[in-house]
Amino acid sequence: MKVPLLDLQPQTAFFREQIIQQLTEVVDSTRYILGDRVTRIEEEIAGYSGAVAGVGVSSGTDALVASLMALELQPGDKVLTTPYTFFATMGSIIRVGAVPVFADVDERTLNLDPVKAAEVLAADAAGEREIKAIIPVHLFGQCADMTALMSLAEQYEIPVIEDAAQAIGADYPFVEQDGAVTWQKAGSMGLAGCFSFFPSKNLGCMGDGGMITTCDLDFAETLRCYRNHGAKPKYYHSKIGGNFRLDPIQAAILSVKLPHLEQWHKQRKENAQQYRKLFAQAGLEQIRLPEAVYHDAPGAEEHNIHIYNQFVIRTARRDALREYLQEKSIGCEVYYPVCLHQQECLDPLGAYSSQSFPGAEQASMDSLALPIYPELSDEQQEYVVETITDFFSL
Ligand SMILES: Cc1ncc(COP(=O)(O)O)c(C=O)c1O
Repeated sequence: MKVPLLDLQPQTAFFREQIIQQLTEVVDSTRYILGDRVTRIEEEIAGYSGAVAGVGVSSGTDALVASLMALELQPGDKVLTTPYTFFATMGSIIRVGAVPVFADVDERTLNLDPVKAAEVLAADAAGEREIKAIIPVHLFGQCADMTALMSLAEQYEIPVIEDAAQAIGADYPFVEQDGAVTWQKAGSMGLAGCFSFFPSKNLGCMGDGGMITTCDLDFAETLRCYRNHGAKPKYYHSKIGGNFRLDPIQAAILSVKLPHLEQWHKQRKENAQQYRKLFAQAGLEQIRLPEAVYHDAPGAEEHNIHIYNQFVIRTARRDALREYLQEKSIGCEVYYPVCLHQQECLDPLGAYSSQSFPGAEQASMDSLALPIYPELSDEQQEYVVETITDFFSL
């Protein structure tokens, strides 16, 4: 049996006619830059995410770059983030002339640890106060601890840009100052939320695409200006932005898919529960399952609603297991084998060489993503768990 890490075929077959119809309409409209379709998906995604405005951009990376540009950081300003995420989070910080600084991850969720972040911010506040923004990443589809991180951001008066690239629709039980809990979606809690529509995301387009959501209408206007070369009005540039626009073709595809997103989240969550059941039956002690708690688990601080963009297990024999699964035609992937502070592009003798983030480094050595896409069958999941069980009994 073959189990790919991701199979877009069933989804594509289901929408094929509808999407071709939409594409035909875009072609015939001869409106190929921005326009009504982009405005419509901006409103739809903002509404879905509980934000006030959406700004369609060319990718999740450009969502981060444009958001950081709109903060108008000065060269050398620092941005606090996690060392365990996709490269774009750090690459965007460096591309706008800022300097990434890291705090380690919470080893349960692999998201930025607010306790570690607080230490870094306190040290910064005791000195020059160089940290000018925080980027928590909602890794694998589960929100970072936004109550704690937003409270730190308020204390130090620093804006938060959520990297929600992997987490569209993930719910988070935000605890307000009066203790009341309000469920909020990824991308609606910080000043801005950055989404990616890369095809492997829960909501993917057919190419590259992204969106920035915000509840601040002035910030949305600034983002729109940076998305279009910093022009306002056309040909008058008070700022230097870029061409970060979302294409109407991708916008049309996203509008076809968005109404089905909740159903796909549901199927991914069911698949995660099925894995939990099968792994529990197999009694494997050598692997650790991703920690996530559901709606029906009251009281726990981490009871996020995970949307399972990835289902990431952890095991000391990760590399051998990966090879074994690949031999058995089971797709799996390491997200991420190298932490950001250890990337070759950073000056090897520079500020990062002596830094260590044990939580992130451990995850880079033992994490492995298994197939979790919505249409995965029970038989395929059984085969994955049986094969992993066989590996550990060899
Ligand atoms: C956490 C994170 N941030 C940013 C990005 C960048 O998104 P894109 O690939 O759309 O540029 C990704 C994409 O994989 C991501 O996973």
